[in-house]
Amino acid sequence: MLPGGVVTLAPRLPVQAAQPIDLIIDTDPGADDVVALFLAMASPAELNLRAITTVAGNVPLGKTSRNARLVREWAHREEVPVYAGASRPLVRTPLYAANVHGEEGLPGVPVYEPGEPLAEGTAVQYLVETLKAAAPHSITLALLGPQTNLALALGQAPSIVQGIKQVVVMGGAHFNGGNVSPVAEFNLFADPQAAKVVLASGVKLTYLPLDVTHKILTSEARLARIRQLGNQAGSRVYDIIRCYAQHDIDHYGLPGGPVHDATVIAYLLKPHLFKGRDLYMAIDARDGVGFGQTLADYYGSLKQPANVHWVTDGDAEGFFDLLTERLARLP
Ligand code: BDR
Ligand code: CA
Repeated sequence: MLPGGVVTLAPRLPVQAAQPIDLIIDTDPGADDVVALFLAMASPAELNLRAITTVAGNVPLGKTSRNARLVREWAHREEVPVYAGASRPLVRTPLYAANVHGEEGLPGVPVYEPGEPLAEGTAVQYLVETLKAAAPHSITLALLGPQTNLALALGQAPSIVQGIKQVVVMGGAHFNGGNVSPVAEFNLFADPQAAKVVLASGVKLTYLPLDVTHKILTSEARLARIRQLGNQAGSRVYDIIRCYAQHDIDHYGLPGGPVHDATVIAYLLKPHLFKGRDLYMAIDARDGVGFGQTLADYYGSLKQPANVHWVTDGDAEGFFDLLTERLARLP
Protein backbone atom coordinates (compact mmCIF):
# COMPACT_ATOMS: atom_id res chain seq x y z
CA MET A 1 0.00 0.00 0.00
CA LEU A 2 1.28 3.51 -0.83
CA PRO A 3 1.15 6.39 1.69
CA GLY A 4 -2.38 7.79 1.84
CA GLY A 5 -4.00 4.34 1.63
CA VAL A 6 -3.48 3.93 -2.13
CA VAL A 7 -3.43 0.27 -3.05
CA THR A 8 -1.14 -0.82 -5.89
CA LEU A 9 -2.13 -3.75 -8.01
CA ALA A 10 0.42 -6.19 -9.31
CA PRO A 11 0.78 -5.74 -13.09
CA ARG A 12 -1.48 -8.16 -14.91
CA LEU A 13 0.52 -10.75 -16.77
CA PRO A 14 -1.11 -11.97 -19.98
CA VAL A 15 -2.57 -15.47 -19.49
CA GLN A 16 -0.48 -17.81 -21.63
CA ALA A 17 -2.67 -19.88 -23.94
CA ALA A 18 -1.55 -23.52 -24.10
CA GLN A 19 0.32 -24.30 -27.30
CA PRO A 20 -1.84 -26.22 -29.80
CA ILE A 21 -0.92 -29.87 -30.25
CA ASP A 22 0.91 -30.51 -33.52
CA LEU A 23 -1.15 -33.42 -34.81
CA ILE A 24 -1.26 -35.94 -37.66
CA ILE A 25 -4.34 -38.18 -37.83
CA ASP A 26 -3.84 -41.57 -39.47
CA THR A 27 -7.22 -43.08 -40.24
CA ASP A 28 -9.43 -45.50 -42.21
CA PRO A 29 -12.79 -43.67 -42.46
CA GLY A 30 -15.03 -45.39 -41.37
CA ALA A 31 -18.08 -43.93 -39.59
CA ASP A 32 -16.44 -43.29 -36.21
CA ASP A 33 -13.26 -42.04 -37.94
CA VAL A 34 -15.39 -39.38 -39.67
CA VAL A 35 -16.80 -38.27 -36.32
CA ALA A 36 -13.24 -38.11 -34.95
CA LEU A 37 -12.14 -35.99 -37.93
CA PHE A 38 -15.09 -33.61 -37.48
CA LEU A 39 -14.20 -33.23 -33.78
CA ALA A 40 -10.54 -32.53 -34.58
CA MET A 41 -11.29 -30.09 -37.39
CA ALA A 42 -13.72 -28.20 -35.12
CA SER A 43 -10.95 -27.66 -32.54
CA PRO A 44 -8.24 -25.55 -34.24
CA ALA A 45 -7.33 -23.66 -31.05
CA GLU A 46 -6.12 -26.86 -29.39
CA LEU A 47 -5.19 -29.01 -32.40
CA ASN A 48 -2.88 -27.89 -35.16
CA LEU A 49 -3.91 -30.55 -37.66
CA ARG A 50 -0.89 -30.86 -39.96
CA ALA A 51 -2.27 -33.65 -42.17
CA ILE A 52 -4.61 -36.60 -42.45
CA THR A 53 -3.01 -39.84 -43.62
CA THR A 54 -5.20 -42.69 -44.79
CA VAL A 55 -4.85 -46.44 -44.64
CA ALA A 56 -6.89 -49.43 -45.83
CA GLY A 57 -9.00 -50.79 -43.00
CA ASN A 58 -12.74 -50.48 -42.65
CA VAL A 59 -12.92 -50.32 -46.46
CA PRO A 60 -10.24 -50.34 -49.18
CA LEU A 61 -7.81 -47.42 -49.44
CA GLY A 62 -9.56 -45.59 -52.30
CA LYS A 63 -12.71 -45.32 -50.22
CA THR A 64 -11.02 -44.39 -46.91
CA SER A 65 -9.11 -41.67 -48.80
CA ARG A 66 -12.27 -40.36 -50.46
CA ASN A 67 -14.14 -40.34 -47.14
CA ALA A 68 -11.31 -38.40 -45.46
CA ARG A 69 -11.48 -35.80 -48.27
CA LEU A 70 -15.27 -35.67 -47.94
CA VAL A 71 -15.27 -34.89 -44.23
CA ARG A 72 -12.53 -32.32 -44.81
CA GLU A 73 -14.81 -30.65 -47.39
CA TRP A 74 -17.83 -30.84 -45.08
CA ALA A 75 -15.83 -29.14 -42.31
CA HIS A 76 -14.53 -26.47 -44.76
CA ARG A 77 -10.94 -27.41 -43.87
CA GLU A 78 -9.59 -28.10 -47.36
CA GLU A 79 -6.24 -26.58 -46.39
CA VAL A 80 -5.47 -29.77 -44.42
CA PRO A 81 -3.66 -32.16 -46.80
CA VAL A 82 -4.81 -35.77 -47.12
CA TYR A 83 -2.11 -38.31 -48.05
CA ALA A 84 -3.04 -41.85 -49.09
CA GLY A 85 -1.00 -44.59 -47.45
CA ALA A 86 -0.83 -48.37 -47.30
CA SER A 87 -3.36 -50.30 -49.36
CA ARG A 88 -2.78 -53.54 -47.44
CA PRO A 89 -1.43 -54.77 -44.09
CA LEU A 90 2.25 -55.64 -43.57
CA VAL A 91 1.84 -59.41 -43.64
CA ARG A 92 -1.68 -60.74 -43.26
CA THR A 93 -4.38 -60.81 -45.92
CA PRO A 94 -6.48 -57.63 -46.09
CA LEU A 95 -9.55 -57.51 -43.89
CA TYR A 96 -12.40 -54.99 -44.18
CA ALA A 97 -15.46 -54.17 -42.08
CA ALA A 98 -18.15 -53.32 -44.61
CA ASN A 99 -20.56 -55.33 -42.45
CA VAL A 100 -20.24 -52.56 -39.83
CA HIS A 101 -19.42 -49.45 -41.91
CA GLY A 102 -21.27 -50.25 -45.14
CA GLU A 103 -19.76 -50.85 -48.60
CA GLU A 104 -18.74 -47.16 -48.90
CA GLY A 105 -17.35 -46.99 -45.37
CA LEU A 106 -19.75 -44.23 -44.46
CA PRO A 107 -23.23 -45.38 -43.47
CA GLY A 108 -26.32 -43.19 -43.22
CA VAL A 109 -25.28 -40.39 -45.61
CA PRO A 110 -24.84 -40.05 -49.38
CA VAL A 111 -21.19 -40.15 -50.49
CA TYR A 112 -19.72 -38.59 -53.63
CA GLU A 113 -16.39 -37.52 -55.09
CA PRO A 114 -15.12 -34.44 -53.19
CA GLY A 115 -13.83 -31.35 -55.02
CA GLU A 116 -10.23 -31.38 -53.80
CA PRO A 117 -7.78 -34.18 -54.62
CA LEU A 118 -5.29 -36.04 -52.48
CA ALA A 119 -1.94 -34.42 -51.70
CA GLU A 120 0.94 -35.58 -53.87
CA GLY A 121 3.20 -38.24 -52.42
CA THR A 122 2.37 -41.09 -50.09
CA ALA A 123 1.45 -41.08 -46.43
CA VAL A 124 4.59 -43.03 -45.58
CA GLN A 125 6.85 -40.52 -47.38
CA TYR A 126 5.01 -37.68 -45.66
CA LEU A 127 5.47 -39.27 -42.22
CA VAL A 128 9.16 -39.94 -42.80
CA GLU A 129 9.92 -36.44 -44.12
CA THR A 130 7.78 -34.60 -41.56
CA LEU A 131 9.00 -36.52 -38.53
CA LYS A 132 12.64 -36.31 -39.62
CA ALA A 133 12.37 -32.54 -39.98
CA ALA A 134 10.35 -32.02 -36.78
CA ALA A 135 11.68 -30.53 -33.58
CA PRO A 136 12.51 -33.26 -31.06
CA HIS A 137 9.41 -34.91 -29.58
CA SER A 138 7.05 -32.38 -31.10
CA ILE A 139 4.44 -34.27 -33.18
CA THR A 140 1.47 -36.22 -31.84
CA LEU A 141 0.05 -39.02 -33.97
CA ALA A 142 -3.54 -40.24 -33.57
CA LEU A 143 -3.84 -43.73 -35.07
CA LEU A 144 -7.49 -44.55 -35.76
CA GLY A 145 -7.08 -47.62 -37.96
CA PRO A 146 -4.57 -50.40 -38.62
CA GLN A 147 -1.10 -49.08 -37.75
CA THR A 148 0.46 -50.00 -41.12
CA ASN A 149 1.57 -46.50 -42.23
CA LEU A 150 3.56 -45.69 -39.11
CA ALA A 151 5.08 -49.20 -39.06
CA LEU A 152 6.27 -48.76 -42.67
CA ALA A 153 7.66 -45.31 -41.89
CA LEU A 154 9.51 -46.67 -38.84
CA GLY A 155 10.89 -49.51 -40.99
CA GLN A 156 12.23 -47.03 -43.55
CA ALA A 157 13.65 -44.54 -41.06
CA PRO A 158 13.79 -45.70 -37.43
CA SER A 159 15.20 -42.31 -36.40
CA ILE A 160 11.79 -40.68 -36.94
CA VAL A 161 10.89 -41.64 -33.37
CA GLN A 162 12.83 -38.55 -32.32
CA GLY A 163 10.19 -36.30 -33.92
CA ILE A 164 7.28 -38.01 -32.17
CA LYS A 165 5.89 -36.61 -28.93
CA GLN A 166 3.32 -39.34 -28.44
CA VAL A 167 1.15 -41.82 -30.34
CA VAL A 168 -2.48 -42.21 -29.27
CA VAL A 169 -4.13 -45.35 -30.61
CA MET A 170 -7.72 -46.51 -30.85
CA GLY A 171 -7.26 -50.21 -30.59
CA GLY A 172 -7.01 -53.30 -28.49
CA ALA A 173 -9.21 -54.94 -25.92
CA HIS A 174 -8.53 -56.63 -22.62
CA PHE A 175 -11.35 -56.56 -20.06
CA ASN A 176 -14.04 -56.02 -22.69
CA GLY A 177 -13.20 -58.89 -25.04
CA GLY A 178 -12.82 -58.37 -28.77
CA ASN A 179 -15.13 -57.25 -31.55
CA VAL A 180 -13.71 -59.35 -34.41
CA SER A 181 -12.79 -62.45 -32.44
CA PRO A 182 -13.49 -63.31 -28.80
CA VAL A 183 -10.25 -61.53 -27.85
CA ALA A 184 -9.22 -59.22 -30.71
CA GLU A 185 -10.30 -55.70 -31.62
CA PHE A 186 -10.54 -54.81 -35.36
CA ASN A 187 -7.56 -52.41 -35.73
CA LEU A 188 -5.19 -54.86 -34.06
CA PHE A 189 -6.65 -57.89 -35.82
CA ALA A 190 -6.36 -56.11 -39.20
CA ASP A 191 -2.59 -55.60 -38.80
CA PRO A 192 -1.07 -56.96 -35.57
CA GLN A 193 2.43 -57.06 -37.06
CA ALA A 194 2.28 -53.29 -37.67
CA ALA A 195 1.09 -52.67 -34.11
CA LYS A 196 4.04 -54.74 -32.85
CA VAL A 197 6.49 -52.58 -34.84
CA VAL A 198 5.02 -49.40 -33.34
CA LEU A 199 5.09 -50.89 -29.83
CA ALA A 200 8.70 -52.02 -30.21
CA SER A 201 9.82 -48.57 -31.42
CA GLY A 202 9.70 -47.23 -27.88
CA VAL A 203 7.48 -44.21 -28.72
CA LYS A 204 5.28 -42.88 -25.93
CA LEU A 205 2.05 -44.80 -26.51
CA THR A 206 -1.49 -44.45 -25.21
CA TYR A 207 -4.16 -47.03 -26.07
CA LEU A 208 -7.90 -46.38 -25.96
CA PRO A 209 -9.18 -49.95 -26.26
CA LEU A 210 -12.71 -51.34 -26.33
CA ASP A 211 -12.41 -51.40 -22.52
CA VAL A 212 -13.12 -47.66 -22.55
CA THR A 213 -14.93 -47.12 -25.86
CA HIS A 214 -17.68 -49.56 -24.89
CA LYS A 215 -18.38 -47.37 -21.85
CA ILE A 216 -18.96 -44.21 -23.91
CA LEU A 217 -22.22 -44.99 -25.62
CA THR A 218 -24.85 -43.10 -27.58
CA SER A 219 -28.32 -42.59 -26.16
CA GLU A 220 -31.49 -41.12 -27.65
CA ALA A 221 -30.95 -37.93 -25.64
CA ARG A 222 -27.28 -37.58 -26.66
CA LEU A 223 -28.08 -38.06 -30.34
CA ALA A 224 -31.06 -35.72 -30.16
CA ARG A 225 -28.81 -32.91 -28.90
CA ILE A 226 -26.54 -33.40 -31.92
CA ARG A 227 -29.44 -33.37 -34.34
CA GLN A 228 -30.93 -30.28 -32.71
CA LEU A 229 -27.79 -28.29 -33.52
CA GLY A 230 -29.48 -27.70 -36.87
CA ASN A 231 -26.22 -27.35 -38.86
CA GLN A 232 -24.97 -29.69 -41.57
CA ALA A 233 -22.21 -31.20 -39.44
CA GLY A 234 -24.73 -32.03 -36.71
CA SER A 235 -27.16 -33.61 -39.19
CA ARG A 236 -24.44 -35.66 -40.85
CA VAL A 237 -22.96 -36.89 -37.58
CA TYR A 238 -26.45 -37.72 -36.33
CA ASP A 239 -27.26 -39.72 -39.49
CA ILE A 240 -23.89 -41.50 -39.50
CA ILE A 241 -23.83 -42.46 -35.81
CA ARG A 242 -27.47 -43.46 -35.72
CA CYS A 243 -26.90 -45.96 -38.54
CA TYR A 244 -23.45 -47.12 -37.34
CA ALA A 245 -24.41 -47.57 -33.68
CA GLN A 246 -27.24 -49.94 -34.55
CA HIS A 247 -24.78 -52.71 -35.45
CA ASP A 248 -23.24 -52.79 -31.98
CA ILE A 249 -26.57 -52.26 -30.21
CA ASP A 250 -27.92 -55.35 -31.98
CA HIS A 251 -24.73 -57.41 -31.82
CA TYR A 252 -23.76 -56.83 -28.18
CA GLY A 253 -27.15 -55.97 -26.72
CA LEU A 254 -25.68 -52.64 -25.59
CA PRO A 255 -27.98 -49.76 -24.59
CA GLY A 256 -26.18 -47.52 -27.14
CA GLY A 257 -23.33 -47.66 -29.62
CA PRO A 258 -19.66 -46.67 -29.15
CA VAL A 259 -18.01 -43.96 -31.28
CA HIS A 260 -14.53 -45.48 -30.81
CA ASP A 261 -12.16 -43.24 -32.77
CA ALA A 262 -13.67 -39.96 -31.60
CA THR A 263 -12.60 -40.84 -28.04
CA VAL A 264 -8.95 -40.48 -29.12
CA ILE A 265 -9.56 -36.87 -30.17
CA ALA A 266 -11.54 -36.21 -26.98
CA TYR A 267 -8.60 -37.64 -25.01
CA LEU A 268 -6.26 -35.12 -26.69
CA LEU A 269 -8.66 -32.24 -26.06
CA LYS A 270 -9.72 -33.13 -22.51
CA PRO A 271 -7.54 -35.86 -20.99
CA HIS A 272 -9.15 -35.33 -17.57
CA LEU A 273 -12.31 -36.99 -18.93
CA PHE A 274 -10.42 -40.32 -18.98
CA LYS A 275 -8.71 -42.68 -16.54
CA GLY A 276 -6.13 -45.38 -17.12
CA ARG A 277 -2.80 -46.70 -15.97
CA ASP A 278 0.68 -47.31 -17.27
CA LEU A 279 1.22 -51.02 -17.82
CA TYR A 280 2.97 -53.67 -19.85
CA MET A 281 1.08 -54.75 -22.97
CA ALA A 282 1.87 -57.56 -25.43
CA ILE A 283 0.36 -58.20 -28.86
CA ASP A 284 -0.26 -61.68 -30.22
CA ALA A 285 0.47 -61.92 -33.96
CA ARG A 286 0.74 -65.71 -34.08
CA ASP A 287 -1.79 -67.68 -36.11
CA GLY A 288 -4.45 -69.16 -33.86
CA VAL A 289 -7.34 -68.15 -31.66
CA GLY A 290 -5.34 -65.36 -29.99
CA PHE A 291 -4.43 -63.63 -33.27
CA GLY A 292 -4.62 -59.85 -32.79
CA GLN A 293 -5.13 -60.01 -29.04
CA THR A 294 -3.72 -57.31 -26.77
CA LEU A 295 -2.71 -58.64 -23.39
CA ALA A 296 -2.73 -55.81 -20.84
CA ASP A 297 -0.90 -56.77 -17.64
CA TYR A 298 -3.20 -54.64 -15.50
CA TYR A 299 -2.00 -56.00 -12.15
CA GLY A 300 1.69 -56.20 -13.05
CA SER A 301 1.92 -60.00 -12.73
CA LEU A 302 4.57 -60.26 -15.44
CA LYS A 303 6.90 -57.80 -13.66
CA GLN A 304 7.72 -56.11 -16.98
CA PRO A 305 8.31 -52.38 -17.39
CA ALA A 306 5.25 -50.44 -18.60
CA ASN A 307 5.19 -49.80 -22.36
CA VAL A 308 1.77 -48.14 -22.79
CA HIS A 309 -0.75 -45.98 -21.00
CA TRP A 310 -3.92 -48.09 -21.10
CA VAL A 311 -7.20 -46.17 -20.78
CA THR A 312 -10.05 -48.03 -19.09
CA ASP A 313 -12.63 -45.41 -18.15
CA GLY A 314 -14.15 -42.25 -19.59
CA ASP A 315 -16.82 -39.71 -18.76
CA ALA A 316 -19.50 -40.47 -21.34
CA GLU A 317 -21.59 -37.37 -20.62
CA GLY A 318 -18.45 -35.21 -20.80
CA PHE A 319 -17.54 -36.79 -24.13
CA PHE A 320 -20.94 -36.10 -25.70
CA ASP A 321 -21.00 -32.55 -24.26
CA LEU A 322 -17.63 -31.91 -25.92
CA LEU A 323 -18.65 -33.47 -29.24
CA THR A 324 -21.92 -31.51 -29.36
CA GLU A 325 -20.27 -28.23 -28.40
CA ARG A 326 -17.57 -28.63 -31.06
CA LEU A 327 -19.93 -29.74 -33.83
CA ALA A 328 -21.91 -26.56 -33.22
CA ARG A 329 -18.87 -24.58 -34.45
CA LEU A 330 -18.92 -26.22 -37.88
CA PRO A 331 -21.00 -25.32 -40.94
C1 BDR B 1 -12.18 -49.75 -34.62
O1 BDR B 1 -12.33 -50.56 -35.79
C2 BDR B 1 -12.94 -49.81 -36.81
O2 BDR B 1 -13.96 -50.52 -37.40
C3 BDR B 1 -13.37 -48.51 -36.19
O3 BDR B 1 -13.24 -47.45 -37.12
C4 BDR B 1 -12.46 -48.34 -35.03
O4 BDR B 1 -11.25 -47.71 -35.42
C5 BDR B 1 -13.09 -50.30 -33.53
O5 BDR B 1 -12.77 -51.63 -33.29
CA1 CA C 1 -11.05 -46.49 -37.57
